[in-house]
Amino acid sequence: MTEVKQKHLLGIKGMNANQLETIFQTADNFLELLQSPVKKTPALRDVTIANLFFENSTRTRVSFELAEKRLGADVVNFSSSSSSVKKGETLIDTVNNILSMKVDMVVMRHPAPGACRFLSKHIDAQIINAGDGTHEHPTQALLDAFSMRNHFGGSIEGKKVVIVGDIKHSRVAISNIHALRLLGAEVMVCGPSTLIPKNIESLGVKVNTRIEEALEWADVANMLRIQLERQDARFFPSLREYTRLYGLDKNRLDALNKDLLVMHPGPINRGVEISSDVADSGQSIILQQVENGVAVRMAVLFLLAQGNL
Ligand code: CP
Repeated sequence: MTEVKQKHLLGIKGMNANQLETIFQTADNFLELLQSPVKKTPALRDVTIANLFFENSTRTRVSFELAEKRLGADVVNFSSSSSSVKKGETLIDTVNNILSMKVDMVVMRHPAPGACRFLSKHIDAQIINAGDGTHEHPTQALLDAFSMRNHFGGSIEGKKVVIVGDIKHSRVAISNIHALRLLGAEVMVCGPSTLIPKNIESLGVKVNTRIEEALEWADVANMLRIQLERQDARFFPSLREYTRLYGLDKNRLDALNKDLLVMHPGPINRGVEISSDVADSGQSIILQQVENGVAVRMAVLFLLAQGNL
């Protein structure tokens, strides 16, 4: 058994399958706790955590804050839009000022790839990456893999997962690929060739630009949002064209004649990459993913704080 004790969670790359399984087993316990009337444990009552969000977020921010509060931690929230970052303060100065108020852990989302690693080299606190530009979003990949694992009865070894959409700009896709490969799943990416990074096969994934073939192959479809905010060029003619060629709607789903599991990390653009009737169907576990996210983030925070990850 390879043992890696890590101080931070900066990405899935570099982790091993045992670490992921430790997170999942711990998350199983926290999920049980969250489903009980108590919902809370004082496990991190001596820990202070700062949530630093330099980029918009709904799910990740609320999920981390709930996870921290369910663990009894003291929590402080920071959002760049209402801070002195607007007055020209640097990232390190901002963070050091917050840390001088005796913060133990920092959960950070930032638009720059590598921002969390950079910070980890300059400050003493433990850092958890809540999404850094197009680089990684490790807790999203962990909650996605945990949701698949629970759906399939405890293992995703040999399961076929297709990630559909804007792979080029997606930190979720990259972190998912690393996590799913570690857990023995087969992974395919599907989308317009302009939105698939060159050499992505080197990560051990298949590529298919035809969604019908990709869905036919898959047990799970993880549908991604088109990240218009990260695109500095036009990668396809129009959103309507994208939906026609790559959107998952009821016709495409019904044509498969099998129980494809439908996932989406959110936020959803209804009617673009996924139709409302599919997003809200019995084959979709989108809200289950969000529920599981709190338990998975509790597990990550707890294990890191104990030095057991
Ligand atoms: N999935 C996800 O990262 O969503 P938010 O941007 O709302 O946090």
